[in-house]
Amino acid sequence: MRILIVGSGGREHALAWKLSQSPKVTQLYIAPGNGGTAALGQNVPISDDDLPGLTSFAKDNAIDLVVIGPELPLVLGLKEALAQSGIPCFGPSAFAAQLEGSKAFAKSVMRDTGVPTANFRVFDDVEAARVHVAERDMPCVVKADGLAAGKGVVVCSTRDEALEAVNDMMAKQIFGKAGERIVIEDALKGEEASFLAFCDGTTVVCMPSSQDHKAIGEGDTGPNTGGMGAYSPAPILPHEDYEMMADLVIRPIVRHMGTVDQPFVGILYAGIMYTEDGPKVLEYNVRFGDPECQPLLSRLDGDLAEIMQACIDGTLADVDIRWKPETAICVVLAAEGYPASYPKGMAITGLDEADAISGVKVFQAGTTLDGDTVRTAGGRVLGVTALGSDLADAKERAYKAVDAIHFDNCYFRRDIGDKGLRRD
Ligand code: AMP
Ligand code: GLY
Repeated sequence: MRILIVGSGGREHALAWKLSQSPKVTQLYIAPGNGGTAALGQNVPISDDDLPGLTSFAKDNAIDLVVIGPELPLVLGLKEALAQSGIPCFGPSAFAAQLEGSKAFAKSVMRDTGVPTANFRVFDDVEAARVHVAERDMPCVVKADGLAAGKGVVVCSTRDEALEAVNDMMAKQIFGKAGERIVIEDALKGEEASFLAFCDGTTVVCMPSSQDHKAIGEGDTGPNTGGMGAYSPAPILPHEDYEMMADLVIRPIVRHMGTVDQPFVGILYAGIMYTEDGPKVLEYNVRFGDPECQPLLSRLDGDLAEIMQACIDGTLADVDIRWKPETAICVVLAAEGYPASYPKGMAITGLDEADAISGVKVFQAGTTLDGDTVRTAGGRVLGVTALGSDLADAKERAYKAVDAIHFDNCYFRRDIGDKGLRRD
């Protein structure tokens, strides 16, 4: 099987690492990839939003399966572009990808299917949104409808903050077209968890629970990032609740997509808030989370290529998907300054020493190869991932590996996993 992975983050390094272990896989390409994926396959310099470039590469290189990591190419319709050339792809259609690409779409599907979520209203008109903010209870959350590189959600405790967010998105258009329509919803309080499932259009197979750490600072302080660390399983969502949770937040959506003739194939990811009134969905993603993918794939005890092919073939029910009982944790090392501006090009040392620690695998994200030197090339640089007998053991191994790695201006959180440790 000749596989093309689309994307360049820690998630894509983990995908390449897991797929390269499959006896079915004969050749791996990663577009555009990073310093880590270069060791597992061939990086090709095509960006993830270059649909014609990706499609002609796949055609010219007899690709059997395209695995799409990030949301943007899915929302732009890469699956459809590939389908025109008869190339199969793991990931949903552009229509189904609206579950992530349009917050208003996701909220209306949740309302129609009875999935618990925060009360909301959708606005296309700035004046109507301002009136609503003046009249409604605070706190609230203002969300740009479209993709905004993870920055389109503002949790507002006062009317002034909410008005500013409405003005930024709709009048000043700081997210361009993504903010022409907005969702304003009730702010929920509680602990978050990530719940992902493989889907073949009908069958849903739950992955173990995981938990991301979105804020840049320890104790969940400061601005949100793409994710500063993750672990799996998350004790807040124990194994015995997975099927109940799938019935509550995943299967209704997959059934709905089937009834509108848009079968959901790929990964459906529910971001859940555990509120006093029970779990509620904050958002859907239509792909692996980054960094949740790194601990999840570290625990997957099977052939990822086989699972992905079964999703495409509609035969997921026939595959036996097993997970290692150990806990996995991923600590993200970032360049100081991220998620705002940060320096690039710093040399990274200690990667081999870190990888040599038992249970540890370092996934690269914003890196590039400069001869034999690995250099930083992005905000999130590495995802230091470790398997351990429990969360405390995994955490100890991961931070031992973190301490073996060096690059100038390295920033990371020391408290990844602590919410889980407090519950254990
Ligand atoms: P989203 O892109 O919708 O996942 O939002 C990003 C983050 O914003 C979530 O992980 C939450 O931390 C926060 N968030 C989103 N919606 C709400 C809400 N209704 N109440 C409180 N926090 C929220
Ligand atoms: N870790 C959150 C995300 O991938 O969206």
